[in-house]
Amino acid sequence: MIVLGIEGTAHTLGIGIVTEKKVLANVFDTLTTEKGGIHPKKAAEHHARLLKPLLQKALQTAGITMEDANVIAFSQGPGLGPALRVVATAARALAIKYEKPIIGVNHCIAHVEITKMFGVRDPVGLYVSGGNTQVLALEGGRYRVFGETLDIGIGNAIDTFARELGIGFPGGPKIEKLALRGERYIELPYAVKGMDLSFSGILTEAVRKYRTGKYRVEDLAYSFQETAFSALVEVTERAIAHTGKDEVVLVGGVAANNRLREMLKAMTEDRSIDFFVPPYDLCRDNGAMIAYTGLRMYLGGVRFSLGDTVVKQKFRTDEVEVIWN
Ligand code: ATP
Ligand code: FE2
Repeated sequence: MIVLGIEGTAHTLGIGIVTEKKVLANVFDTLTTEKGGIHPKKAAEHHARLLKPLLQKALQTAGITMEDANVIAFSQGPGLGPALRVVATAARALAIKYEKPIIGVNHCIAHVEITKMFGVRDPVGLYVSGGNTQVLALEGGRYRVFGETLDIGIGNAIDTFARELGIGFPGGPKIEKLALRGERYIELPYAVKGMDLSFSGILTEAVRKYRTGKYRVEDLAYSFQETAFSALVEVTERAIAHTGKDEVVLVGGVAANNRLREMLKAMTEDRSIDFFVPPYDLCRDNGAMIAYTGLRMYLGGVRFSLGDTVVKQKFRTDEVEVIWN
């Protein structure tokens, strides 16, 4: 079976083409802005402009035509309304024109489901990106959120701190590099609140300390990472204890971070459970994860009418009944 998936919840437009076992194409284009921040309308314009060329590129890369695709999948939410609507409209148009079934996919679930292409069975997922920070796992037939950020996403917190330091966007890789030269831990507020997380306190305090001019930026970057990542690992570990699962996957753009990987690896080794991080192009926002989740849903018997394809800006992971596993 061949499924074409379109991702467009935020600033990345991605088109992926997959089979049960393989990614045939996974192309994307990200709208970047110097100042960062959310631009729903600009993201929508970006997606509308790039849909056709990106679709052609994906088909060419996969060596197929639209007729060869068996199902069209698209990111139904959560995300920016205008961006979601462009993608949903495109998916509907393709489904109608080529007479293919259509499947709407939850973006957060897709980040975790793609790991199953690599043999992961039933993991606790730590999904960390610019806008999202969630610990999720299947329980009782739904992906339940065991902990999530109460304010900003971890990637967003890092990017904002990097901007304050004047080292540009995206800040993640730059803060990671600086942190390697950290020598001293500087106290920052811890980010766990019950089972949830909060990063605005760390951010505010790190910025405040930076502005005093009394601290090395390397030490601040190091301390920022250690504090924020420890909180992520703690909540992930608690979800494992609660669910009894024996696999952890790390997904989302922040999965690129080697320190975060190292910390999660140590925790999972301590517990003698598996740890997996997909290749980066399948961690960040991408079309292949949407296509692959759509494929699993379709094979598992999920069907959508066109009326079911309305976008959901606040689409929660636990709204979806996971009948396909
Ligand atoms: P979403 O819509 O799911 O929130 P996104 O638009 O933030 O996703 P992604 O590509 O998933 O897009 O993630 C980008 C984020 O990942 C940015 O905040 C970036 O700073 C962060 N990031 C990238 N590399 C690293 C790294 N090495 N360390 C920490 N953060 C990183
Ligand atoms: Fe994402």
